[in-house]
Amino acid sequence: MPLNDSTVSLTDKEFYFDDPFPTYREMRTSAPVYWHAGAECWVLTRYQDIEAVSKNAQTYSVGSGLLLSDLLKKHDYLSRMFPDGVETVSLADPPRHTLLRRVMNWAFARSRVDSFAPTVRDLTARCLDAVAAKGEAEVVHEVSVPVTAGVVRAFIDCEDMTIDQVLQWSDAVFRMGSDISLDEMQKTVASIQPMFEYFIAKAEERRANPKDDFIGHLVSYELDGATLSSLMVETYLQTVMVAGNETTRNAFTATIRLFAEHPEQYQRLRDNPDLVNSAVEEILRFHSPVLGFVRTATEDTQLGETRIARGEHVYMLYGAANRDPDVFEDPETFDIARFLDTQKTHLAFGRGPHICIGMAVARLELRTLLEELIARFSGFELLGKPERPDTLLGNGYTALNAKFHLG
Ligand code: HEM
Repeated sequence: MPLNDSTVSLTDKEFYFDDPFPTYREMRTSAPVYWHAGAECWVLTRYQDIEAVSKNAQTYSVGSGLLLSDLLKKHDYLSRMFPDGVETVSLADPPRHTLLRRVMNWAFARSRVDSFAPTVRDLTARCLDAVAAKGEAEVVHEVSVPVTAGVVRAFIDCEDMTIDQVLQWSDAVFRMGSDISLDEMQKTVASIQPMFEYFIAKAEERRANPKDDFIGHLVSYELDGATLSSLMVETYLQTVMVAGNETTRNAFTATIRLFAEHPEQYQRLRDNPDLVNSAVEEILRFHSPVLGFVRTATEDTQLGETRIARGEHVYMLYGAANRDPDVFEDPETFDIARFLDTQKTHLAFGRGPHICIGMAVARLELRTLLEELIARFSGFELLGKPERPDTLLGNGYTALNAKFHLG
């Protein structure tokens, strides 16, 4: 296959929905650091390169943007919108990043994450009981959204937000990160004004009535000798809501799709429930819910054979790294026992200082989903073609209809 900007059509969402894996294979072999002239970035497909870049935050910065669409934007409306003094953990480099990430440590402590197990179990069981009664479902809106949005809402102590608000606001923030026109950007920003007001009101309410929860910790957290401003509290709540929402939603929907397409692997899980943790990792490896993130070189450097100049961007395709045969034997095979008894890890959660801080939450949600599925259903059947969203970030679905067979 010739590699050029039309075969490596990174900026076309269809590229990812049709099978991108033959292209990824060719890139890993013949151009593992590929220059994409249209997006003006180096595209990385090998596990070892993506791991090395993610770990080396000094040379590869997040400061110039994280999203492929940041490189394509024709206006800087968003950067002009944020007032001075607001910082985002995902757009900060160490050593500042270390301080900004530490602010969230309390919320993501193991014991706190574990304390959500009953909430996750209850939400999942209720959704799946309703699906079992009907025998079929539109998985995104009847399973993935209610569970994952319900969990993230509880996790940020905003239980009075409706599931629709979580969904609309997160999706709007995601859209703001897309390559949309100035007019559409202004409309999207206006649509989330109520979200800003809601989170700011939450912060102010907690300041007036202290409580030992995530918002309580944020409002009393001291950074640079002063407590966080309400705008910073808003930014943290928004970041966690958005980061923990579409990602797990995509992984949930992909789970049903993968098991419908690989019924023998589902039966294997039912026969061997001890495979559940390994199955979760294999779903994350095989599907890779985030397509990719960007870094920018802070100095002239070298990646394999390729010279990367200061200021140039690199784009890390996690789905390609996760099928690298140098790391994973028979990588195109979906094998739920692959992660049993191995030190190997996939890169779906990234690596290095920005590695997903919510991975224990995501794993808890996916583990619970698998346990509750195998307790009820003998298998799944896809009805029609899944619908995919208009985004270059999430490897997701907007609709997926399936039959759920009891047994
Ligand atoms: C299957 C689900 C998930 C996937 C695949 C995923 C993937 C990722 C990836 C790849 C990164 C690294 C970004 C980078 O290197 O620049 C990341 C960061 C992050 N994730 Fe997740 N994530 C998931 C679930 C969650 C959940 C459930 C939460 C919160 C409840 C969360 C919160 C975050 C935050 C706050 C960051 C930024 C960390 C930092 O910049 O230091 N994620 N995630």
